[in-house]
Amino acid sequence: MTSPPAQQDYVFDPVWEKETERLRTNEAIWDPGTLERLAALGVGPGWNCLEIGAGSGSVASWLAARVGPAGRVLATDLQTERLGALAALPHVDVVRHDLRAEELPHAAFDLVHSRMVLQHLPDRAAAVARMVRALRPGGVLFLEDTDSSTLFRSFLPEDFLQDVRAAGYGLMRESGHDPRGGHVDLQLVLAAGLDATAEGRAVMVRGGSEQARHYMLWLEFMRPRIVAAGLLDDTRIDAALAEMADPAHHWLSQVLISTVGRKAGGAEPPR
Ligand SMILES: C[S@@+](CC[C@H](N)C(=O)[O-])C[C@H]1O[C@@H](n2cnc3c(N)ncnc32)[C@H](O)[C@@H]1O
Repeated sequence: MTSPPAQQDYVFDPVWEKETERLRTNEAIWDPGTLERLAALGVGPGWNCLEIGAGSGSVASWLAARVGPAGRVLATDLQTERLGALAALPHVDVVRHDLRAEELPHAAFDLVHSRMVLQHLPDRAAAVARMVRALRPGGVLFLEDTDSSTLFRSFLPEDFLQDVRAAGYGLMRESGHDPRGGHVDLQLVLAAGLDATAEGRAVMVRGGSEQARHYMLWLEFMRPRIVAAGLLDDTRIDAALAEMADPAHHWLSQVLISTVGRKAGGAEPPR
């Protein structure tokens, strides 16, 4: 795993001054459900886990605590600067790795997990094939990506923030993001020959909360692109940010689709 080139088609900017906060507030939305599912899969002492596109590292940290000193965690990302504290743990490796282009260790892991990464990649079948090769027989592939169609649906008028969603997600799509990425995951995992199931979850977000802050940061990041494309003007974006900051408002997140597949053969991971 050598130093990859910077990813040109990843919509977000890894060195944007608010990117760490954007990633942490995303964790605030999705971690409870992800960690609950990882616990239900039986992840425990002695497991060898791979967290791909680890972001600011909350899931990899949880895995490290869960597998304990008898287990191992490999956390990868294009940008590993946010994972420094994890790298200090003796049973954790942090590696800069480009899932689009670089191979992973073969038949090595009891668990491969990746959240909100695949939906940004151009050749997702190749990425899934790489992940499946990384699993040992009997190992578990756990992918989480979204269907964005529910975002901002609420009790408020039906068009609440829908212009913002259409503008932002339209531009993200042009940069390679798939608004139905979670559905694609299931198809790819089945096509790779794994025994797979999937389910979706959405979170009700309250305006002004840490979770709402994630969507505000998303809009702040997208703002110059949306305005430059002539999709919305600054006045409308300011009004949308005020709506997101209002604790009287509640709205649905995207649906996060969790796909779990098990590679044939081998023993169950340690319990
Ligand atoms: C939306 S963030 C999700 C972060 C984390 N998985 C989470 O859910 O909290 C996407 C992450 O994928 C990483 N990423 C994007 N393209 C990648 C690639 N080709 N290989 C590895 N990581 C990538 C980004 O640097 C970023 O940390």
